[in-house]
Amino acid sequence: MKVILFGGSGMVGQGVLRECLHDPDVRSVLSIGRSATGQRHVKLRELIHRDFLDFSPIEGELSGFDACFFCLGVSSAGMKEEDYRRVTYDFTMAAARTLARLNPNMTFVYVSGMGTDSSERGRTMWARVKGKTENELLRLPFKAAYMFRPGLIVPLHGIKSKTRIYRLFYAATGPLLGLLNAAFPKYVTTTEQVGRAMIRVAKQGAPKPVLENSDINEVQLGY
Ligand SMILES: NC(=O)c1ccc[n+]([C@@H]2O[C@H](COP(=O)([O-])OP(=O)(O)OC[C@H]3O[C@@H](n4cnc5c(N)ncnc54)[C@H](OP(=O)(O)O)[C@@H]3O)[C@@H](O)[C@H]2O)c1
Repeated sequence: MKVILFGGSGMVGQGVLRECLHDPDVRSVLSIGRSATGQRHVKLRELIHRDFLDFSPIEGELSGFDACFFCLGVSSAGMKEEDYRRVTYDFTMAAARTLARLNPNMTFVYVSGMGTDSSERGRTMWARVKGKTENELLRLPFKAAYMFRPGLIVPLHGIKSKTRIYRLFYAATGPLLGLLNAAFPKYVTTTEQVGRAMIRVAKQGAPKPVLENSDINEVQLGY
């Protein structure tokens, strides 16, 4: 399996990258980001790209892939709707439309979040924007597309969030998070579980296109 990864420098993306590099069925990973992942591996190649609204300069590098794991995203805290929409919806759709055109056999997996609003009409700004993004991704002509809606993600294996407020939260809660993961699989997952679940659905599919936190934890059990 040949994988394209977005957001590989972030917390979720680092977790997904780690699992991809460990999985013998993942032949190669192309990471696309404005920052490098900081990892070196024989299976990993990186493209530093600045304009996430225009992928035409690197289109020549983007075909022949089986899966895209899209982990690029921001917290909506303190953001205006138009700025949040630009990163969450515009960036994702620009990448996904290009990839769908170039890779009709691709499985696209998007990291959304628990509470995403599929109606696109609710009161919570981030949930509406993620809902619209999910809905439009599901309409693209990929072989398959899966929307992952994790709740709280516990970073494992020394992985750190790029978002300062999350780093403070993780530092303050420490080992308690591991216990929460075991006690509340409906609400809590880990970077490892998310990564394994992505690889599993890319290889074998899933019974439904939108996977809630508990579905993610269940799917990865068959990894
Ligand atoms: N963390 C959680 O518990 C959690 C729970 C549910 C859902 N999620 C979702 O998972 C996704 C990833 O979250 P995360 O925790 O991995 O966040 P993170 O650690 O802050 O990483 C964010 C990633 O997105 C990239 N990115 C952000 N803004 C960008 C921009 N303007 N242009 C290009 N790249 C940009 C970052 O690149 P740089 O390294 O260059 O900044 C980084 O690779 C988000 O959509 C988030 O909503 C997270």
